Amino acid sequence: MKKDKDFIDGLIGRMTLSEKIGQLNLVTPGGETLTGTVVNTDVADKIRTGRIGGIFGVKSAEAVRVFQDLAQKTRLKIPLMFAEDVIHGQKTIFPLPLALAASWNMDLVRATARVAAQEAASIGIDQVYSPMVDVCRDPRWGRIAESPGEDPFLASRFAEAMVEGYQGTDLSRPDAVMACLKHFCGYGGGMGGRDYDAVDLSPTTLHDVILPPFVAGMRAGAGSIMASFNTLNGVPMHANRTVITELFRKRLGYDGLVVADYTGILELIAHGIASDRADAARLGLSAGVDMDMVSETYLETLEDSVKTGLIGEDEITAACRRVLDAKLKLGLFDDPYHRLDWGRAAQPILTAGNRQLAREAVAAATVVLKNEGNLLPLPAPDSGRIGGIALVGPFALDRVNMNGTWAVAGSPSTVVPIADGLREAVGNAVSVTTAKGANIVDETWLATRLNVHDWKDLSVVIDVRSPEAMIAEAVAAATAADVTVAVVGEAREYSGESSSRTDLSIPEPQKKLLRALKATGKPLVVVVLTGRPLALAEETLLADALLIAWFGGTEIGHGLADVLFGKAEPSGRLPATFPYCVGQVPVTYAHRPTGRPTPGRFQKFTSGYVDLPDEVAQNDGLYPFGFGLGYGNVAYGPPRANRTKLTGDDRLEVTLTVTNLGDRPTSETVQLYIGDPVASVSRPVKELKAFRKVALAARATEAVNFVITADDLDFSVAETVADLRRRSESGAFDIHIGPNSRDTQAVRVTWDEPQSRGKQS
Ligand code: BGC
Repeated sequence: MKKDKDFIDGLIGRMTLSEKIGQLNLVTPGGETLTGTVVNTDVADKIRTGRIGGIFGVKSAEAVRVFQDLAQKTRLKIPLMFAEDVIHGQKTIFPLPLALAASWNMDLVRATARVAAQEAASIGIDQVYSPMVDVCRDPRWGRIAESPGEDPFLASRFAEAMVEGYQGTDLSRPDAVMACLKHFCGYGGGMGGRDYDAVDLSPTTLHDVILPPFVAGMRAGAGSIMASFNTLNGVPMHANRTVITELFRKRLGYDGLVVADYTGILELIAHGIASDRADAARLGLSAGVDMDMVSETYLETLEDSVKTGLIGEDEITAACRRVLDAKLKLGLFDDPYHRLDWGRAAQPILTAGNRQLAREAVAAATVVLKNEGNLLPLPAPDSGRIGGIALVGPFALDRVNMNGTWAVAGSPSTVVPIADGLREAVGNAVSVTTAKGANIVDETWLATRLNVHDWKDLSVVIDVRSPEAMIAEAVAAATAADVTVAVVGEAREYSGESSSRTDLSIPEPQKKLLRALKATGKPLVVVVLTGRPLALAEETLLADALLIAWFGGTEIGHGLADVLFGKAEPSGRLPATFPYCVGQVPVTYAHRPTGRPTPGRFQKFTSGYVDLPDEVAQNDGLYPFGFGLGYGNVAYGPPRANRTKLTGDDRLEVTLTVTNLGDRPTSETVQLYIGDPVASVSRPVKELKAFRKVALAARATEAVNFVITADDLDFSVAETVADLRRRSESGAFDIHIGPNSRDTQAVRVTWDEPQSRGKQS
């Protein structure tokens, strides 16, 4: 008979205090990729003595089995729960989360998470530390690479899709893994874009921008969340009882597990709110953090704290129950080995199907920013219209960088490099000449930092040749070719954790290369690999075609070749604004109006920058949120509302047509934003409320229909972080529709006493 809640009650009744505390201890035995300076020791001995509840970072089925066997020899045989940082794939690496969000294709996102779940489960992983749903508007923060970008609506849809993909419909199935929404919460708003830094957020921003993806993920059934490293308005999240327990658990109804982040409990001392390890543990547990990751302060101090009356045993029991509940949901009490056994039979790793999905994901995530004279797609290799391609740049032959940050189990050896993908696509019909052209960066100290996670192959190798010699080789290749494809950008660890930047430019040696390539006069396609929005003003001028390919993972070579030759439509749209320059950040399309709005160019005594040229949109960045070109040529008809005066719980229907004026099929992402021009508080100028991916045949017209309810109009009026009040107000609303957040057409309606259901998202 399947174990149930009664079984857990009985088990808890038999547990000693120290066994309960053992369940709260979450450790890593160490390995190749660590994200802190501390690792746990004596892991095997601690399992034998019931002092570990969960392990993360175990890299093989064999090791999982060895640890689980030890747990099965303990008095109560409580199974261990295994977790891993499966962020954008386990072995088949998909494009970065930011890139997957750029697909605006939630079926695809869900499918990638399903594959990742199966691959991870097959080596015995029960829980993945994903999805990361921190909304971020400051691309200096390197972890924007792991996030769905700047918008709470897009991030919410992303959160749901990822959770559904990981968990499937039944978490107890051997191929399902528990999702972990992270980092709860506010982590993307650190001062100066610095990782781990303090976050100050108004209660309304917390409720309207930061919490929605967590709420959406919770409603999709996420079994766990992870506390974030930052302080929120002065209170470190690992000690933030108000937000974790009072707000998320009690008011919003979250009933899953809360895990700490790496040494996050111990860091309460450094934050200046705990006097010692015991104090830190007490604060963390009382805040509602059930499992202490790596720091072992719970293990070392909680028993004494109960004895001295600092905390009650009931708090420990409650946390322990949540750990056991998670294990119950995962089917571990019925069979602690069921994922391993299923995996051995199913062998789902790096299958042809998984690779095919990864390949499709590359095109879906690629964002075309410029395509002068329809340079792309390139002529078919066998058309006779193209004889030679110069493939240049430090990433042309690269495998190590392609998986991007946070691909801890992904291997460079399984990557299809860009040169291989291109050569396979052209066969013998076209010659492909490669040249490195430039180092990723020239500074050895910076290279050392960027190679932090590399132990076999380095991601940044500084060439023995001079920069001039490398450029000369690339220029010679370009001169001899019909078209140059330059692949430039960041090293994989230039974004990610602890990789904040003060500059958002492509590194200077690569810029020099692009300038030299431009001077050849040959058509220039610039492919940018990046984990964050970059400032690409100069590249926009230099390139004839400019593409953001992010870090595309295992199948980057095939996927990019599909895009370049038009076998697949690049259908990505920016999930975050690309700024004009670093000084513009934080930047978002969804900013509030100011009393002195910019007229679009600099004007004294209006909001903007005195040192930005006139042709630059002052406050909107260079490429707006939602921007991206397809290979089609799509025209938007005017949006039409079925009524312009609404009341109460009326439904508004807005319809428009989109027409593909081009001769090839395309995919359009139709975006709907709402603006609330007069309200009791100043509201963002536009907020994304719906979008649709529309497949358009050549020369075809499709009608697109959106339904808007009063729920789409409400906003937070919170005065404290725990205040859940929302309000819908009577008045005018502008319904903007367009291909991105900037180029929209609007229809105005008035809505009298809109009655929202008071949802929180
Ligand atoms: C990161 C988390 C990650 C954890 C475990 C931390 O440094 O912030 O996102 O899940 O390490 O590796």
